[in-house]
Amino acid sequence: MRQILSLTCALAAIGAFAATPIAINTDASSLILSVGDNGRVYQNYFGKRLLNSADYAALPQGTEAYLTHGMEDYFEPALHINHPDGNPSTELKYVSHETKQVSPGVVETSILLADPVYKDEVTLHYTAYQPENVIVAYTEITNKENKPIELEKYASSMLHFNNKNYYLTEFSGDWANEAHMTDQPLHYGKKEVDTKLGTRANMFVSPFFYLSLDAPATEENGEVLMGTLGWTGNFRFCFDVDNRGKLRVISGINPYYSRYSLAKGETFQTPEFIFTLSQDGKGQASRNLHDWARKYKVKDGEGDRMTLLNNWEATYFDFNEDKLVGLIGEAKELGVDMFLLDDGWFANKYPRHSDTQGLGDWDETSDKLPNGIGRLTAEAKKQGVKFGLWIEPEMVNPKSELYEKHKDWVITLPNRDEYYFRNQLVLDLANPQVQDYVYGVVDNLLTKYPDIAYFKWDCNSPITNIYSNHLKDKQSHLYIDYVRGLYSVLDRIKAKYPNVPMMMCAGGSGRTDYKGLEYFTEFWCSDNTDPVERLYIQYGFSHVFPSKTMSAHVTTWNKDASIKFRTNVAMMGKLGFDIKLDDLSGNDVAYAKQAIKNYNSLKPAILDGDLYRLVSPYDHNHAATQYSSKDGKQTVLFAFDIFPRYDEFLYNTKLQGLDPNATYAVAEIDRMDGQNQQIGQYTGEYLMNVGLPVFTRNKMDSRVYQIMKN
Ligand code: GLA
Repeated sequence: MRQILSLTCALAAIGAFAATPIAINTDASSLILSVGDNGRVYQNYFGKRLLNSADYAALPQGTEAYLTHGMEDYFEPALHINHPDGNPSTELKYVSHETKQVSPGVVETSILLADPVYKDEVTLHYTAYQPENVIVAYTEITNKENKPIELEKYASSMLHFNNKNYYLTEFSGDWANEAHMTDQPLHYGKKEVDTKLGTRANMFVSPFFYLSLDAPATEENGEVLMGTLGWTGNFRFCFDVDNRGKLRVISGINPYYSRYSLAKGETFQTPEFIFTLSQDGKGQASRNLHDWARKYKVKDGEGDRMTLLNNWEATYFDFNEDKLVGLIGEAKELGVDMFLLDDGWFANKYPRHSDTQGLGDWDETSDKLPNGIGRLTAEAKKQGVKFGLWIEPEMVNPKSELYEKHKDWVITLPNRDEYYFRNQLVLDLANPQVQDYVYGVVDNLLTKYPDIAYFKWDCNSPITNIYSNHLKDKQSHLYIDYVRGLYSVLDRIKAKYPNVPMMMCAGGSGRTDYKGLEYFTEFWCSDNTDPVERLYIQYGFSHVFPSKTMSAHVTTWNKDASIKFRTNVAMMGKLGFDIKLDDLSGNDVAYAKQAIKNYNSLKPAILDGDLYRLVSPYDHNHAATQYSSKDGKQTVLFAFDIFPRYDEFLYNTKLQGLDPNATYAVAEIDRMDGQNQQIGQYTGEYLMNVGLPVFTRNKMDSRVYQIMKN
């Protein structure tokens, strides 16, 4: 429980303080609302921080803050309620609001609105994280009628803009090609970015966006909103430009096939929409979110992360106890913190020798692991490394004992052929019995093997064949109740095992959202581990998520790339290896061991520091990324040459965020020859204005520079 440090209550009755502005301020931004003469709440301003609060009263009345369906507005609403008498309209009038400081730099504002006819209540919540310049918004809708009401649309947030031009950056793609960035101007009409995957938010498009105002923002310049929804399921961002060129941004659960009926007295709470408005381009927006996420959101956000050796790409399903014991030894030899056993260790009636069977039967395959997981945790202990385990507890293969026993727990249409995504089906987490079962998978493993120190929790299928046995006549609740069921399982796990870190994985990066990251310490960026592809994929995710949440492994994908190139790309995230040492030369093994040591010493900058995307892989044949520790002492610069052209011009790379008056010692570290090379001493001013020649014309080449403040 956060302590309430001070409480400034502004409870105003309609009329009395009707014109009182409601200010939601961070250090850098102001969102100013006010109550109009008609009792409705309007958004009068959202922009750079207005320092003089006397100016609030001079703001002209803007657009209604949380527009409802059925009244006089002709564009996309935030809220649509169907009342028991068939009336589809809602009007919201101000009742009261409250502002309280919950901790230093964190201020919560809630605004209570109510329909004067039907009495239903809506509370708009905004939490301002002031130094980080992040606002988190969500909405509560309460049925005050005598019968159930139906929610058609129930946005987390609605924001209004009135600018000359709008440019949307979306992060779309596909499996193994995630978070690819594209820009588009927004003109009259509606642009929707949404998903309908059910179990996850991401695959074709990620649950976050940039919106540049007036002109396209760059890394260092321009006014730009970055927004993301904390919901591990179907989401929708709707950008609606009206006839006057005004834009409304509506964010929330995707209302697609999700009409939700709310019983008398019940409250529907939306997920959080998290946003930051930067006046200094996209780079600052990312740093705002990273700071906020580490401090307030991500599980163990300020804690360390373990390097690891994973066996997935080293063995796939083809392993036995001896092979794994050998790999645990290799983890020790490499110098990583943990060995992670991936898919393929479970099921006996239908042993998990491929992805076609066994999912759901969580006992060790006896001929592969005759001495169970216990033998492996004991071996890991002996070697002084931690042991982690892959699970996918929400899913079932039709070829499994679980399916044979409990078909009623499976999301599947009773009277149609089943359609399988990766040969599997999704369990019905709307059903509390299924929640108990899924919780039990983790609880049983940790009870039996308390030395399991980490889980990789996978989710390889979207919801297919949508039908819940449990929900009966409330089928349109399934998308929402599934995700809520998942959270209730994860809450129980977090309560009983608060210190077990977990990776959120979903056939690559299907799950990449900030609600999920309350339970997971990190996520898997992509099944595509080709380092060239990863430069783009990780670049995309870096806009929203801090590097300590982005799992990145060195594998054998793209054998043309050197071990150094592959490792340097993975060092920009949470470093792991997914490789057999046999596949590497002696030199490569020596390099990898040294790289892990280097990575450990660079963690204050990479994992907990400030990120500067200096050169984008999208614009050039090169990429460069800088991380600076919060105390400013350590900076690391990664430079990559991707596919340079013959005789192309090479430009210096200018650093950012340094102290112009300080002197820095620059050295190239992490070289194949193991020798650090001193480059020279430079002022911060020089490094930021003249820069360093960090690129070459070599194909798939990379360098790491350490820049220490004297
Ligand atoms: C998913 C994950 C992979 C791996 C496999 C195992 O595809 O993204 O990393 O764990 O499942 O089946």
